[in-house]
Amino acid sequence: MTDILKYDGKRCVVTGAASGMGAACAQTLTDMGAEVFALDVQDIKASVHRAIKVDLMSEASIDNALGEIEGEIDCLFNCAGLPGAPRFSALDTCLVNIVGLRHVTESLLPRIKDGGAIASITSVAGMGYPKNQEKVHEFLDTPDFESAKAWCEANPDVANGYLFSKQSIIGYTYRRAAELSARRIRINCLSPAPTDTPMMPAFHEQIPKEAMDEHFQAPIGRNATPEEMAEPLILLNSEASRFVSGVNLFVDYGYTGQVFCGQRPGLLV
Ligand SMILES: NC(=O)c1ccc[n+]([C@@H]2O[C@H](COP(=O)([O-])OP(=O)(O)OC[C@H]3O[C@@H](n4cnc5c(N)ncnc54)[C@H](O)[C@@H]3O)[C@@H](O)[C@H]2O)c1
Repeated sequence: MTDILKYDGKRCVVTGAASGMGAACAQTLTDMGAEVFALDVQDIKASVHRAIKVDLMSEASIDNALGEIEGEIDCLFNCAGLPGAPRFSALDTCLVNIVGLRHVTESLLPRIKDGGAIASITSVAGMGYPKNQEKVHEFLDTPDFESAKAWCEANPDVANGYLFSKQSIIGYTYRRAAELSARRIRINCLSPAPTDTPMMPAFHEQIPKEAMDEHFQAPIGRNATPEEMAEPLILLNSEASRFVSGVNLFVDYGYTGQVFCGQRPGLLV
């Protein structure tokens, strides 16, 4: 049988591997024969090669965690994230969702093999990126963790938490794709529709469940499972996607299609 994904023996780093989509991703990669380095601030239950504690809000913690991973890496999966208000401040949300994500990615890049791949989870909540791209790229012009954090602190109205952080993952993916093509390293992101993970109750504290289902649920009429997001993410970083880079893949069973053709109100654009 032909294996078009080719993960056997691949060295993969997965953030957010303790829960939800990241846990599903880490377990599925392990089941496919990959050597998985699983990073999270919480305990990791998946049967991975190595579990490493990291707090993505802290540059020093990221540097320590990545220092525990020896050698070269084939694929990076950025799955960790925070849902934003009311549970988390805008700054903490931006630190985990984009400032820490970018620091992990840029720090690992010298060790990602030529031909390797990076895939990050953003959100349909980031679909307002086009209207906000000037500010997103002003933020992304910051060169490192500390300057990005300082930019968020200086621009609290723009760096407003979940929406801005997810728009910024899309902008980061777009601006790095052509640059990384020189090393044949691909970078993509994936925008999930609402998915039943431990994060969902936090979203229901922002928007009541009935309103969330009415306005944002996929047209198929149910939320996704974590595996239904992890598997397309794994596809994006696989050999089967070897000509795919700079893409924001909407995994929403047609939700954005409805918005873009006017069948449904575009509340996030
Ligand atoms: N669930 C949804 O409906 C939905 C929709 C769109 C996008 N997303 C995104 O999907 C990704 C996965 O989320 P999920 O739904 O599986 O939620 P989840 O809460 O189950 O998983 C998020 C993981 O990120 C980890 N994390 C949080 N803060 C961290 C920190 N400071 N350092 C290290 N790790 C940290 C958590 O410990 C957890 O394991 C997130 O980026 C989220 O924003 C979720």
